[in-house]
Amino acid sequence: MHIAPRKPAEAGRITLIGAGPGDPELMTLKALRLLASADDVLHDDLVPPEILALAPKTARLIPVGKRGHRPSCRQEDINALMAALAREGRHVVRLKSGDPALFGRAGEEIAAAADAGVPVEIVPGITAGFALAAALGVSLTHRASAHSVRLVTGHGREGALPQDLDWRGLADPATTLLVYMAGRTAGHLAERLIGCGLPPDTPVVVAEAVSRAGQVLRGLTLAALAGEGSVASEHPLMLGIGEVFRDCPALAASHPSCARSQAPIAA
Ligand SMILES: C[S@@+](CC[C@H](N)C(=O)[O-])C[C@H]1O[C@@H](n2cnc3c(N)ncnc32)[C@H](O)[C@@H]1O
Repeated sequence: MHIAPRKPAEAGRITLIGAGPGDPELMTLKALRLLASADDVLHDDLVPPEILALAPKTARLIPVGKRGHRPSCRQEDINALMAALAREGRHVVRLKSGDPALFGRAGEEIAAAADAGVPVEIVPGITAGFALAAALGVSLTHRASAHSVRLVTGHGREGALPQDLDWRGLADPATTLLVYMAGRTAGHLAERLIGCGLPPDTPVVVAEAVSRAGQVLRGLTLAALAGEGSVASEHPLMLGIGEVFRDCPALAASHPSCARSQAPIAA
């Protein structure tokens, strides 16, 4: 009797894809190509339906969102699910907002894939802070006023402002700050930066839903932000802080100085 050798199962793999800030046109060609070959798409809450619609009709869409202060999927469960599906020979796409390597726990997912012996590839995406600069029409660096850019979280482990940040470095007036997940801690952040020497009239932009329907960009000063305390939104929200945001065109169109305008400006 002839027994045909068993066909080895096709190797599974994991691809961490950056979906960008929300506008599907800001995705890379590589992201689109690899998304098109997904068997399973595990996606964050912030990935909008227009981008999920770009996955193959045959792909399973699995929401695994984690939103601060709301019920969330456990990271260990996400890691285990990705590894299990890849071991079945499936192409697992982990679709994350912005860039997967920024504030997205990609390090834990990469380590878990390595432990499971599953190959993992990363496709970068446009982070929300870079899309904010584009939406405002400003450069994040400037030879005269900003020689570094720092991407910072405003959300520590317990949801409060992280205490172990390099506050003196962050208060450098020649640094542009892009602060993620800072809605609740915005006022404390502003107070702390002023306390460490950043001038109270430093321009701030509160940016909601950058590159999405409902985008709102609002200019104020660091002192005004300290007075406001927390800033709430149902949309993703981040802060830009620094001299590069002074008199920026998108805000100055309606207000003479973006550093002083308080009214929301729908873009
Ligand atoms: C878990 S972090 C993920 C960041 C993402 N990996 C990136 O590179 O943009 C989520 C935070 O990013 C910021 N964010 C993401 N998309 C945004 C958008 N379209 N507009 C404003 N902020 C955004 C918000 O601060 C949000 O709370």
